[in-house]
Amino acid sequence: MIQYDFSGQTAIITGAASGVGLHTARRLHDSGARISLWDIDAAALSRAAQELGSGDRVDTRVVDVCQKESILVATREVLKRWARIDILINNAGIIRPPSVLAEVSLKDWQDVLDINLTGTFLCCQAVIPHMAEVGYGRVVNIGSTSGKEGNPFTPAYSAAKAGVMAMTKSLAKEFAKQGVLVNCVAPTVLDTPMTRRNIEIAPERTQKLLEKIPMGRFGQVDELATMLLWLSSSECSFSTGAVFDLSGGRATY
Ligand SMILES: NC(=O)c1ccc[n+]([C@@H]2O[C@H](COP(=O)([O-])OP(=O)(O)OC[C@H]3O[C@@H](n4cnc5c(N)ncnc54)[C@H](O)[C@@H]3O)[C@@H](O)[C@H]2O)c1
Repeated sequence: MIQYDFSGQTAIITGAASGVGLHTARRLHDSGARISLWDIDAAALSRAAQELGSGDRVDTRVVDVCQKESILVATREVLKRWARIDILINNAGIIRPPSVLAEVSLKDWQDVLDINLTGTFLCCQAVIPHMAEVGYGRVVNIGSTSGKEGNPFTPAYSAAKAGVMAMTKSLAKEFAKQGVLVNCVAPTVLDTPMTRRNIEIAPERTQKLLEKIPMGRFGQVDELATMLLWLSSSECSFSTGAVFDLSGGRATY
């Protein structure tokens, strides 16, 4: 495994109490980074903090990524503690059970757009200016194959993730000359708590998604974390506004 050295760098990871976020936080911490874990789930966050150890490189904050004020306060607190923010991983996200168009409630539509897309926007808006000021930053947003292909029966999730990818390209161009690189990853189905909940709710649909993956398996969080670490590092230096697939051969464009 390639070992990065993130000593002296600060990373914020949203949705960090579970799945991809927690595992990526662990990998960044193991590579020397100071990590600030943001999540709306206080109990899960405190379990994550226990697991990571309450050393002086671990910081946890209950943050709702849909609430601008909550994000601004957390950003200020992280800066007060560690003076700089080098890495922002916008990972917080939700999906609702698959549903035919006629039955998609406006609330579900809005919740999915708010957390996946507006949440990513608000965190970028709060953090990127500080990165631009010092002339260095790495932002990675989590998209999805759904955002490229439009998975059936998940119109809100597909639209939100497509929005995340388009916003990534827009912000990348705005900050390209200021040392802040903004990229996105588009994973297909991963083996995480989110997926395990979906398997319980809609086993047949999950089986269909599995059949679309040429490698015939779901992705592992560590495989995504490996990509996220490279995108968070200074080794990634000429890619910005890019969407990186992680799909076991499913993505064709
Ligand atoms: N699991 C997959 O198959 C898959 C595939 C493609 C993309 N993704 C994306 O990867 C990311 C992580 O997914 P996961 O599978 O690890 O999910 P997960 O459900 O295990 O973790 C998501 C975390 O986000 C947190 N969260 C939810 N709403 C929040 C809010 N308003 N504010 C702050 N935190 C909030 C949850 O509490 C949870 O800890 C998501 O953006 C998801 O859409 C997942």
